[in-house]
Amino acid sequence: MTPAPTRAIPFFPYPQSFWAEEEDLVGIFRDVGRRGAFVMQEDLRRLEDNLARFLGAWRVIGVANATDGLLIALRAAGVEPGSEVIFSSHTMVATASAIHFAGAIPVPVECGVDHLMDPAAAEAAITSRTSAILPTQLNGRTADMDALQKLTSRHGLLLVEDAAQALGSRFRGQYAGTFGVASAVSFFPAKVLGCLGDGGAVIANEEGVGERAAALHDHGRDAQGNVGGWGFNSRLDNLQAAILDYRLRKYDTVIERRRELARGYHAALEGVAEVVRPPAPNSDAAHFDVYQNYEIEAERRDGLRYFLAARGIGTLLPWGGKAVHQWEALGLRTRLPATEKLFERVLLLPMHPWLTDDDVARVVAAVREFYRGWT
Ligand SMILES: Cc1ncc(COP(=O)(O)O)c(C=O)c1O
Repeated sequence: MTPAPTRAIPFFPYPQSFWAEEEDLVGIFRDVGRRGAFVMQEDLRRLEDNLARFLGAWRVIGVANATDGLLIALRAAGVEPGSEVIFSSHTMVATASAIHFAGAIPVPVECGVDHLMDPAAAEAAITSRTSAILPTQLNGRTADMDALQKLTSRHGLLLVEDAAQALGSRFRGQYAGTFGVASAVSFFPAKVLGCLGDGGAVIANEEGVGERAAALHDHGRDAQGNVGGWGFNSRLDNLQAAILDYRLRKYDTVIERRRELARGYHAALEGVAEVVRPPAPNSDAAHFDVYQNYEIEAERRDGLRYFLAARGIGTLLPWGGKAVHQWEALGLRTRLPATEKLFERVLLLPMHPWLTDDDVARVVAAVREFYRGWT
């Protein structure tokens, strides 16, 4: 039977993310434009300070995107060219490319049942050439930082976090991005804190690292304009910073809405034997998750995906359906059986603050209908 036409539920409603705040955003554009405040201006400084205060970080430096941010974080942290950097293969290719362009060797490892870096797998991959461990704080959840910090201090390694998806996420009360010497967050439009294009920030948790990152992102220059070494041009536009600072003021509400929606999904998916749900909010005392994504494991995943698409429900395969080491062109040549098996099952359901409770109910009703058809 053909389903009755209903309102589509896009995976992420990009136009709505603009028009929901259109008047305020246009006001910011006008204000910034009339002041001619385009590059490295007070709005950027204010955002950097507000983010550093929010996170309890030493310093935050706005950059062009989180991929550049990771590269700068690795360089500022002192990762040596030719050394090995361990990362979880369930991440965006950007994590590995940042390691590559820092001149280091990306070493992918398995993720655990929580889909984040498996500390035991990370430990097993340590060699005499390892310089750093780079966990991805995936889907708005922070990895087991107790285990990873123990590991890095026991082996004398640097800890750098890919916190692109995790601004506001906490582990034992501490914010993602503040565990390592340096880390990066992304402000890509679909991120929990997103701007109207590309954007990112480096979080530096030591003074020297902050100074080096600040110089690296602006042609190697210090605040006086003196060039102290080679650098990049990777600055966050002042207009984007002004928009982000405006959105940061409402950030707690946005996070709370995402957590509420996750609670809704969790309750509604109860008892669907073919689906493994991510942890519910407050399911353990250590984690505070911000649900950048709602990533499930699903049996007959591809069938479910098409079934949902036919009902106007958008979903996404993480990273185009492959873990980083599975992209042959990168030449990482390793087998990670647990991660590869997981990638046959993972699926991202719609998760954004404009989703209604009714939308969640509709998505889950469709999931249930799909599996009922198979029993
Ligand atoms: C885990 C992870 N790392 C890195 C990035 C790269 O961020 P950007 O697009 O800001 O360069 C992303 C963006 O989606 C991401 O999700």
